[in-house]
Amino acid sequence: MKVIREIKPMQEIAEFFRRAGKTVGFVPTMGFLHEGHVALMLAARDECDVVIASIFVNPTQFLPNEDFAQYPRDFLRDFYICKQAGVDYIFNPSAEDMYGENYKTYVNVEDLSEKLEGKYRPGHFKGVATVVLKLFNICKPHYSYFGQKDAQQVSMLKKTVKDLNLDVTIRICETIREDNGLAKSSRNTYLSEQQKEDAAVINQSLQMAKEKILANNFIDAETVKKEMKDMIEQKAAGSSVQYVAITDNELLNNISDLKGFKGDVLISLAVYFGKTRLIDNILFTK
Ligand code: PAF
Repeated sequence: MKVIREIKPMQEIAEFFRRAGKTVGFVPTMGFLHEGHVALMLAARDECDVVIASIFVNPTQFLPNEDFAQYPRDFLRDFYICKQAGVDYIFNPSAEDMYGENYKTYVNVEDLSEKLEGKYRPGHFKGVATVVLKLFNICKPHYSYFGQKDAQQVSMLKKTVKDLNLDVTIRICETIREDNGLAKSSRNTYLSEQQKEDAAVINQSLQMAKEKILANNFIDAETVKKEMKDMIEQKAAGSSVQYVAITDNELLNNISDLKGFKGDVLISLAVYFGKTRLIDNILFTK
């Protein structure tokens, strides 16, 4: 496995493999890797001849008041995880190289970026879409792998690929969870042991809502959302639900008529445990 830190050599390596007729798989990450990332790398390893993983804590997707400075970083640990997962190249650029002086160009997926997470993290998805497009242009993948845990990121990137005719296929891998159902996330390191235990209620509330909606018992979206919020806040002391949304899975429009709706239902939410903000979701077909 090789570590590439500069843009040009990474582009040349990716181009070399493409010209040699090899399929290039790409897993973009911000490092501090966990089993969720490993699952993406293994999926890429299974499907592609060459696997590139990027490790880059992207400054443009953090709001000024967010945890960019504190975001956990441990390159050596990530290096061995990538090696074990069969990655061929780690791309690990500097922020200066990615966003040189006078950087001006951003990708904005209108509307989709402003919903759900975008309401509370304005500008976040502009940063994500921009860095992912840049990484695609550098690593030139045929396939790129993302976790369903970041459901809105996935919907937005699928839209970017479609709208901008990008020559890459997005693969989505299921959310990897702790034994108690808590979705794996690099930010779980901010939680105390007690909070990790309590946070199991997030997935429980999603499962409860799914069951109720599928049972079709004349339930309306606002009631489901309120039941989820009450369940979480009552079971987990010190938790606070920021939002629960019940939407379709493409344009993320609210579903108000749950009974009449047919198609994929996405329930997503953000919950604070103390200062730590966790997101999760469940996707099912009705
Ligand atoms: O999901 C993430 O870790 C990041 O948003 C991504 C896709 C690596 C872009 O920085």
